[in-house]
Amino acid sequence: MSASFDIAASTGTYKVSIESGVFHRYLTGLDHAAIIADQFFEPAFQQLARSAIFVPARETNKSLDASPALIEQMRHSGANRQTHLVAVGGGIIQDLSAFIASVYMRGLQWSYIPTTVLAMVDSCIGGKSSINVGPYKNLVGTIHPPTQVLIDPTLALTLPADDQSSGLIEAAKICFCHGAASFERHISYAPCPGMSTEALEQVIINSLLAKKHFIEIDEFDKGERLLLNFGHTFGHAIEGASHYAIPHGIAVGIGILCALDFQRRHGVDYADVPHVCLLEDHLDTMLRPIHNLGAHLRAMSLDEVIERFESDKKHSSENYTLVLVATGGEVQLQRFPKSPKIQHNVQNAIQTIVEKYS
Ligand SMILES: NC(=O)c1ccc[n+]([C@@H]2O[C@H](COP(=O)([O-])OP(=O)(O)OC[C@H]3O[C@@H](n4cnc5c(N)ncnc54)[C@H](O)[C@@H]3O)[C@@H](O)[C@H]2O)c1
Repeated sequence: MSASFDIAASTGTYKVSIESGVFHRYLTGLDHAAIIADQFFEPAFQQLARSAIFVPARETNKSLDASPALIEQMRHSGANRQTHLVAVGGGIIQDLSAFIASVYMRGLQWSYIPTTVLAMVDSCIGGKSSINVGPYKNLVGTIHPPTQVLIDPTLALTLPADDQSSGLIEAAKICFCHGAASFERHISYAPCPGMSTEALEQVIINSLLAKKHFIEIDEFDKGERLLLNFGHTFGHAIEGASHYAIPHGIAVGIGILCALDFQRRHGVDYADVPHVCLLEDHLDTMLRPIHNLGAHLRAMSLDEVIERFESDKKHSSENYTLVLVATGGEVQLQRFPKSPKIQHNVQNAIQTIVEKYS
């Protein structure tokens, strides 16, 4: 099976294709391109007799500090303004490549082959690049969409189970933000690590079509797209306080449960909202088998989680800005005064969920 659709961006329209085996087919026929690839794929490139700039997928390599060496390597290999850049890897290689593509000789066109579930269901569309600066994650970046995205779901077969879960939780979040119908469709594909390639293909299509809705109406993150930050204020604080031992999507899953617990402390009752109950059950099923999650949560300082929560860039000096689920089940941006009562509820929500999975 294969599928494709277009994404409308400010720079033009680009095509997203989902097709098993496209990784080998595209790279075999590729002419005159510079390739930046996750080092994991070096043996696969050797088999195809293809050269590339290989980069280990580490957060430290997705940084402003690491970029000049890569830019020099591109120049050394002869890349010029006409060069088409191809990125092969997960979100780290995508962020790095998109950033280089946006600044190298004032901008190169680029194509992307996502290789993690997270990149296939989420980050491969939307055009954002986010780069770490010193201790600050994703501090700088650009919006520079690719000219095409080629998704080969068979690449997920080699991905560790926890990384698959991380991506599948992001897909659940996107579909939930889009609405009950998208989310119920997501659940109908029985998302779990090790799922069949055919079912994963359905998950990818459903999730990307849901994300397409947000990025096409709000490419520059001013309104509706911000809703995709559901679970992120709590989630980023947990991800950071675990010093990135907890993968992004897993931390977002815990963050969503914190956000629901926080709302309940303000009297919001979800008992009559089936898709919210379904989301909670699904996240619980996804989080229980994650290796070492309890150990990572126990090793984390709750004070550091709170500090990181407080320093989220979406808050103002007087208010917390959070993406939460309202009484009827719809996802909304809400503001709360930084009062002792609210701070107490934030702390208790984090503590309750962290203890539950410790
Ligand atoms: N730009 C965006 O819109 C956006 C959105 C979400 C996340 N991100 C960023 O993405 C990064 C996380 O990316 P990720 O979760 O996709 O993974 P990743 O790029 O961090 O890779 C995770 C691990 O999987 C390995 N790997 C990649 N593909 C593989 C495969 N097919 N088989 C086996 N191993 C494979 C990598 O080598 C690495 O060890 C974070 O830095 C996050 O900030 C960016």
